[in-house]
Amino acid sequence: TFVYINDEFVDESEGKVSYTDRGYNFGDGIYEYIRIYDGNAFTAKEHFERLFRSAKEIGLNLEDYTVKSLTELIEELAEKNNVKNGGVYIQVTRGVAPRNHPFPEASTKPVFSAFSKSYERPYDELENGIKAITVDDIRWLRCDIKSLNLLGNVLAKEKATQSDAGEAIMHRDGIVTEGSSSNVFAVKDSKIYTHPANNLILNGITRRVINEIANELNIPFVEEPFDVEFLKSADEVIVSSTSIEVMPVIQVDDTFISNGTVGKITKELQKSFNNYIE
Ligand code: PDD
Repeated sequence: TFVYINDEFVDESEGKVSYTDRGYNFGDGIYEYIRIYDGNAFTAKEHFERLFRSAKEIGLNLEDYTVKSLTELIEELAEKNNVKNGGVYIQVTRGVAPRNHPFPEASTKPVFSAFSKSYERPYDELENGIKAITVDDIRWLRCDIKSLNLLGNVLAKEKATQSDAGEAIMHRDGIVTEGSSSNVFAVKDSKIYTHPANNLILNGITRRVINEIANELNIPFVEEPFDVEFLKSADEVIVSSTSIEVMPVIQVDDTFISNGTVGKITKELQKSFNNYIE
């Protein structure tokens, strides 16, 4: 199995990084996770544009790369590893330097790494839905940056796992923001509600695809904050991400959504999403 580190593909046994890498010491870096369907990187342009935005927001210089070079790179990695269906994880850190909080010298090169994995779409869950719990959103105020600092997300997801739930839906003072690794949607009276794409959530690429699909289907897509009570009284609940796509949520804490079944609008979105990735 190959991994990509800095400028080359190497065997994973040689995929080593320094103990003073700023990603390792400070979580000082950014990442993307991109789906591979049938050998093709899905919405790669959007993912890499978001990577460049994250880089800019944290003052990380990515000038050695372009959307095109990165897309070619991950498709080459997937091909080398014979990944037909799966995903590629890529991350960039602020580089290797003696541990010291301020940015290192300008000549410090970012450390770039990527790996791929094979897996099938989560057909079972897509058909039957998952359970979610609600948790406090304890994260920082720049959740729009796809940062390597995921401790708040990790603690939330672990709580979900301990509760036999597939996702933790986070809220700030009762306002639903997003999932620990997904965006959240409530369907009510045939409208789709989701948190506005501001500093409190990651503007998911799958979220944007859902927005586009909703427009095509003439389903109102309302970007307005809503609270946990609204979520629990919704007709349908959905979480979305690159890996879980358009995922129905049939239970939130102890409340069953739509009597524990997958709703009509969710199914319509899934159907269009399937066409989208073909
Ligand atoms: N996570 N919000 C958060 C906090 C996320 O971590 C993710 C994705 C999303 C959905 O974004 P997108 O649709 O672009 O995948 C929203 C990825 C999959 C991860 O961390 O592995």
